[in-house]
Amino acid sequence: MPMLLDYGNILGVSRNFSLVIGACFQYSTRIYGIESFLPAHFKSDYWTFFRKKRAVFVKHSGSDRGLHMGWQGLYADRMALISDTSIIGLLKLAERPDVISFAGGLPDPRSFPLAAMKEVSDWVFDNQGGAAMQYGPTAGYTTLREWIAERMKLVDRVSLTAEHIIVTTGGVEAMDLIAKTFINPGDTVVVEAPTYLAALHVFRSYQARFVDVPVDDDGMRIDLLEERLSALKREGVRPKLIYTIPAFQNPAGVSMSEERRKKLVEVADRYGIPILEDAAYAELRFEGPSPSSLVSLNPDGVLFANTFSKIFGPGVRLGWIAAPPEVIAQLCQAKQGTDQCSSTLGQRLVYEYGKRGLIEPQIEASISLYREKRDRVLQAVASLFPPGCTWTRPEGGFYLWVTLPEGVNTTPMLEWAIQNEKVAYVAGPPFYADGRGQNQFRLCFSFINPEKIEEGIRRLSRVAEHHIERRHHAQQR
Ligand SMILES: Cc1ncc(COP(=O)(O)O)c(C=O)c1O
Repeated sequence: MPMLLDYGNILGVSRNFSLVIGACFQYSTRIYGIESFLPAHFKSDYWTFFRKKRAVFVKHSGSDRGLHMGWQGLYADRMALISDTSIIGLLKLAERPDVISFAGGLPDPRSFPLAAMKEVSDWVFDNQGGAAMQYGPTAGYTTLREWIAERMKLVDRVSLTAEHIIVTTGGVEAMDLIAKTFINPGDTVVVEAPTYLAALHVFRSYQARFVDVPVDDDGMRIDLLEERLSALKREGVRPKLIYTIPAFQNPAGVSMSEERRKKLVEVADRYGIPILEDAAYAELRFEGPSPSSLVSLNPDGVLFANTFSKIFGPGVRLGWIAAPPEVIAQLCQAKQGTDQCSSTLGQRLVYEYGKRGLIEPQIEASISLYREKRDRVLQAVASLFPPGCTWTRPEGGFYLWVTLPEGVNTTPMLEWAIQNEKVAYVAGPPFYADGRGQNQFRLCFSFINPEKIEEGIRRLSRVAEHHIERRHHAQQR
């Protein structure tokens, strides 16, 4: 801690308060590279600093209540990059029982065969209770890793062994371990625009920079990716990862065509950039043949992340990464410092459940459930949404992506929708690295009661109509 100036004398406030001010100011100036400091904001509860043209707020003690911890001044730099809590507040509002919510991306609990899960769980406790409650290997329960590798031969059409697999605590930890292993502050990650907001959160927390590539109905625009990579190369920048969700993308619902998958793998290989393939929804295909997984097209150049959250249940908090064994060794090192191993109980439960052949029928049942909901949403949207709106037509997964005319802002519209029509969605900006997508929103159809879909879309249509008209009047003025 640098030597404290006597801010109490300078500002004429008490000693305790001056210590807090001094610590914040001097520490911040040294460590955060503060550009300016606005004591004018002294009247509020926050000191305001400017750093890289962004305001940083530091809460002050406000009165002479004694020197307390001053948590706000202690948080790491990375927290300022992931501190937007507005979406959490809105998702909470959307949970009100009177709101028809297309917001949270949750599986339908009817897709969890609880009786079968209970039977398997009893068997695990009766036969392997001690081991199931014990620590396990960091890479995961070996028998489960073997089973995952075998299953990937059928599902993802790639020949791997247990050595290529690490079991993770869900899909988000898979991304976190990859980011922890590969991303230095300031490294570039290529993401889709829009993309999964939790992935942006993970990469931000490792202080990555983003370059984004738009998606259309056939997934990531590989022609634009090539342009971006070539421009970056000219600047001497080699991105660390290309993150893509090629099947039934979250949030857009679109899938990458076979042709683009091949092209992507070829381009990434040519530029020497690993692809992070997120396959969270790939098995929830409602129709049509499955294109090649990216990992099958280049097992040496693709880090494949998947989760049991959508095909078994998110409560078990398990997922996995498939990667070359030398990368798996590094990921294990990274995992040692987080949770050492994922739930051994959960791993034995999933293995036993999978070995009995219960995952496939569960996936089949989930597909019928979600297909029916997707059909209802598409029908309702087609007949009720006002002119000027467009939307994607997902062939699987959980989501539909809606675009309203330019100038409609879906963020304030959401609050209006919840208050006035009791309907909710997730607004577009958090799905973009740079916060664009103001006239877009995500509709999740997986969790909603099918009986409520038409009424929900009717309400949303009224919301959209109202805001399109409002924008129209504003433009005429
Ligand atoms: C695209 C995508 N990837 C990964 C995940 C992983 O989730 P979890 O950590 O629940 O396994 C999700 C969940 O919503 C997702 O949408």
